[in-house]
Amino acid sequence: MNYRIISAEEAAQFVNNGDVVSFSGFTPAGTPKAIPVAIANRAAAEHKAGREFKIGVITGASTGPSVDGALAKANAILWRTPYQSNPDLRAGMNNGEIPFIDQHLSHTPQFMKYGFLGKINIAIVEACDISDNGEIILTSACGTIATGCQLADKILIELNKRHPKTLRGIHDIYIPEQPPYRREIPIYTPSDKIGKEYIKVDPNKILGIVETDLSDEVKPFTAPDETTQTIGNNVAEFLNNELKIGRIPKEFLPIQSGVGNIANAVLGALGENPDVPAFSMYTEVIQDAVIGLMKEGRIKFASGCSLTVSPECLSSVYDDMEFFHPRLALRPQEISNNPEIARRLGIIAINTAIEVDIFGHVNSTHILGRKMMNGIGGSGDFTRNAYITIYTCPSEAKGGKISAIVPMCSHIDHTEHDSMIFVTEQGVADLRGKDPKQRAIEIIEKCAHPDYKQLLWDYLKMGGKAHTPHTLAKAFNMHVEFEKSGDMRNTTF
Ligand code: COA
Repeated sequence: MNYRIISAEEAAQFVNNGDVVSFSGFTPAGTPKAIPVAIANRAAAEHKAGREFKIGVITGASTGPSVDGALAKANAILWRTPYQSNPDLRAGMNNGEIPFIDQHLSHTPQFMKYGFLGKINIAIVEACDISDNGEIILTSACGTIATGCQLADKILIELNKRHPKTLRGIHDIYIPEQPPYRREIPIYTPSDKIGKEYIKVDPNKILGIVETDLSDEVKPFTAPDETTQTIGNNVAEFLNNELKIGRIPKEFLPIQSGVGNIANAVLGALGENPDVPAFSMYTEVIQDAVIGLMKEGRIKFASGCSLTVSPECLSSVYDDMEFFHPRLALRPQEISNNPEIARRLGIIAINTAIEVDIFGHVNSTHILGRKMMNGIGGSGDFTRNAYITIYTCPSEAKGGKISAIVPMCSHIDHTEHDSMIFVTEQGVADLRGKDPKQRAIEIIEKCAHPDYKQLLWDYLKMGGKAHTPHTLAKAFNMHVEFEKSGDMRNTTF
């Protein structure tokens, strides 16, 4: 089949107002970059001419400025799911203009298939190669696009030569059957590959190919500081002790590590700890630290959904595909984040919280209960199903004006029934086998910042005798105080 080579502007003409568009990519990795900008420009022109133009946007997770940034600035987003981290889009969501459906990332492909997100009109895919019979080789991520291509009637390809064709074989594309015909997913160790190297589509659905040469828009990580380094060391020491006392088998267990600067620093510390044996990862996002540790032999294999690494780090992978091929698998998020597999493999899940409360609930998403930061992402997929689930965060934020440990979370993403271990730079709280009051004592003692300890003790004492000693009328006093005076340390109960 001879595909039509078209410009990004021509491609954008195939997208209609009100369409639901499935974009490839997971984080800025593997996301199309030319066509979405052309769609944003088209939206701006349509608006200028007095016509409506907005699209529903589904990706794997967050994207870079070329999707969320450009479309949000052009006021071209009808709704967005399942995760984001773009400041322009975040502003639109938090001022109530852009509806955002915050979703467990493993749910998104099946929501698409079940029809819960409406008809998927068009799929836009970044590829490093495509065959005449419609075998698409993805680039640095899998996300939801295998499902998007299955469901959409129309497909546009961005063929990006920045990603080498030697990527073929890294991807493991597997889409589970629909219930009631769904079977177990036959992954028994992180390195098992069970699917195809490509997404197979009907070549007649491909409307055209836009050729590009653009790098992924992954932002560099902030170097670990004293706080994140201490958190990382605390996690490593905790896991090392679990290993010593035989609660983690000597072969170790696969690690899942979350997104962001803290997660990157924690993983670095874990890898550098000589007492922790070389390990495998069954995770969602493969960040820079993983690649560094793989080169040093500290990480044996990494299964993930995306290679969310800096452009320099990605080049170093592409320059040595012989080394990385047998050590990496990129899978659709329905598989990388699958609760069944997380439970079976016995993963150790390490994610970052915005705030946690003294009884063990976790807020991963909201600032002061109202403002969305990024979204739940894959944290919930792993948290409930892990062998050991760990939440990390600095004990305070904004120069000490906010305590990350509060009486009651202002929004709850993970409940007391899911959380097991909290780690701050102050220490490690082990909540396993403890009731709410015992948990509160452990968390305040081990994790709270000294500036906030007495306040939290006062709150706990006030609750008196109860299974969960809350005082509802005062549970949010610390949040309210921050809104009033800008400093939670001024709180009184
Ligand atoms: N109240 C107010 N702001 C807070 C806060 C709190 N309790 N805790 C953190 N913040 C702010 C920080 O000050 C920082 O603000 P800034 O951007 O203005 O500097 C911001 O939140 C991000 O914090 P940072 O320390 O840079 O954390 P991070 O890059 O490690 O990201 C999360 C932390 C929680 C936002 C991020 O991990 C996330 O989105 N998690 C949810 C999804 C997830 O867990 N995915 C992984 C699944 S595999």
